[in-house]
Amino acid sequence: MTRHREFTALGRPILSIGGQARNSSAFTPDDAEYACRAVDALGGNTVAMPVSWELFEPREGEFDPSPVRDLIERVRRWGLHLVILWFASWKNGTMEYAPAWVKEDPARFPRVELPDGGRAFVLSQHSATNRDADARAFAALLGLVRDLDAEHGTVIAVQVENEPGIFAPVRRDFGPDGTRDFTSPVPERLIERARTFPESPLGAAWTAAGSALQGNWPEVFGGYGAEACSAWHLANYIDTVAAAGKEAYDLPLTVNTWVGMGTWGVAGLDYPSGGAVPTTGSLDIWRTAVEHIDMICPDMYEPNLDAYRDKLAAFGDDPGRWPLFIPETGNANPNAALMFHAVGERGAIGQHVFAIEDLVDEDGGVRPAGEPFARSFGMIRDVEPLIRRHRGTGAMHTLVQTPGTRVERLSLGPWRCVVIFGQPDFAWNAMDFRHGREVAEEAEARTDLGQEWGRAFIFQEGEDEFWFIGHRARVQLQAELSDDGSVPYALLSGEHQTAQTPTLCIEEGHFEAERFVRDRLRTGDEARHGIWLLADCRVVHVVMSSAGRR
Ligand code: DGJ
Repeated sequence: MTRHREFTALGRPILSIGGQARNSSAFTPDDAEYACRAVDALGGNTVAMPVSWELFEPREGEFDPSPVRDLIERVRRWGLHLVILWFASWKNGTMEYAPAWVKEDPARFPRVELPDGGRAFVLSQHSATNRDADARAFAALLGLVRDLDAEHGTVIAVQVENEPGIFAPVRRDFGPDGTRDFTSPVPERLIERARTFPESPLGAAWTAAGSALQGNWPEVFGGYGAEACSAWHLANYIDTVAAAGKEAYDLPLTVNTWVGMGTWGVAGLDYPSGGAVPTTGSLDIWRTAVEHIDMICPDMYEPNLDAYRDKLAAFGDDPGRWPLFIPETGNANPNAALMFHAVGERGAIGQHVFAIEDLVDEDGGVRPAGEPFARSFGMIRDVEPLIRRHRGTGAMHTLVQTPGTRVERLSLGPWRCVVIFGQPDFAWNAMDFRHGREVAEEAEARTDLGQEWGRAFIFQEGEDEFWFIGHRARVQLQAELSDDGSVPYALLSGEHQTAQTPTLCIEEGHFEAERFVRDRLRTGDEARHGIWLLADCRVVHVVMSSAGRR
């Protein structure tokens, strides 16, 4: 299978920015409308909403197309794209969305069993009956989506299951099929993967357990063996479901992962056992197992920048093979800034905010809590042509304020660049009349941890031309130091630093397709206090004088 590396609609690439509706919103037309209105008001282009197995196949073999049709048509009317979330065998590690005819027949559709013989409310990933029932329904769903939408391109992806795994007090299925698989030999290609990448979490677990070249799961992976066995069979089950869907309609298929490790970090108790968590080796297992899944994705509720970076690095560390998509983030202030990190530094092809409805009021107005997201959505979409042109070339720079920090420095060819986060504290005329008056109130709070975090993208075109977009950030550019040991006079005093910046042009504007359209020109006071970035200024284009280089 050739893996989809981006989202497209009728062949056109889409950087998917938007929101995921709450779990129950898709089923009521007014609620679904509310979610679409929210994404639209925030300036996103994609809404993600569930289709549940229980409503799609209320009686075995009888599929109800109407909710799916309504959903697609509704999203299309809003001019948005749709990611369908297939809530089926798993939703957050349980079987809540399976149809009643599945739930009521555990003899035919086996559950995960506990050591004492009790049954968890989780379907067993070791059962071909469970898998094939889900796969038949998923194939019917994708066939329906193809018939309803192939000519429109509203639906850009389908998520297969939701945060799959066993969320019950076991790390594996103790039923007969689960125990048979647990005591069967570990597939060779998994041992090969562990051997080839000894530094990976899977490799480390294998080494710690004695580097066995054959054996069953506990023999090869020791204490991690139970979770590893769950991951392998879960990934294979879901890959079979995905294959059935792809056969009907080849859309990008994604799987999302519950990555929070809770208090003890114990599979089953703190997160669904077998999900593609990066820390234990299960992401490695998933990557070895699946062939019909295009993206294995983290649900990122993490508001801590360092932890966020680590988790994204794990999911995006194989950029040649696996695209990075973030299907869920929290809807608190830091998550709005962290989008810049995901899109700019990790090359994410999309990011959605969970519970998007919370960010707008009943009339569709953006609530204060939604404003940071509206700004980030708008900024990222404004520079989509620049992201496409410069990502991965070294000419795109991402800045996300770490709370408490004020200044970041970077070198941009012949130019030395300083980015100061927050609002300026030195002059009422440091911005234009539309923004400058707010300065005084903000000055003191510049590095307050509760403030909206500053963030920016910088794109460099050749040596002397730059595009900036950002919020709560101010950029200064000066020529790099010369080799003779002198300190340029322009760096000596605050006012001179910026007044002596050799610019040819500072203009604000926006892109219409690939063409930049100027909205304003910054001159005089508005140009001599650094290049200030606020979201509503949109793209700031700066051309430096090459004669001003040293
Ligand atoms: C992650 C899940 O994937 C979502 O469906 C939702 O349950 C959120 N957690 C928040 O509760």
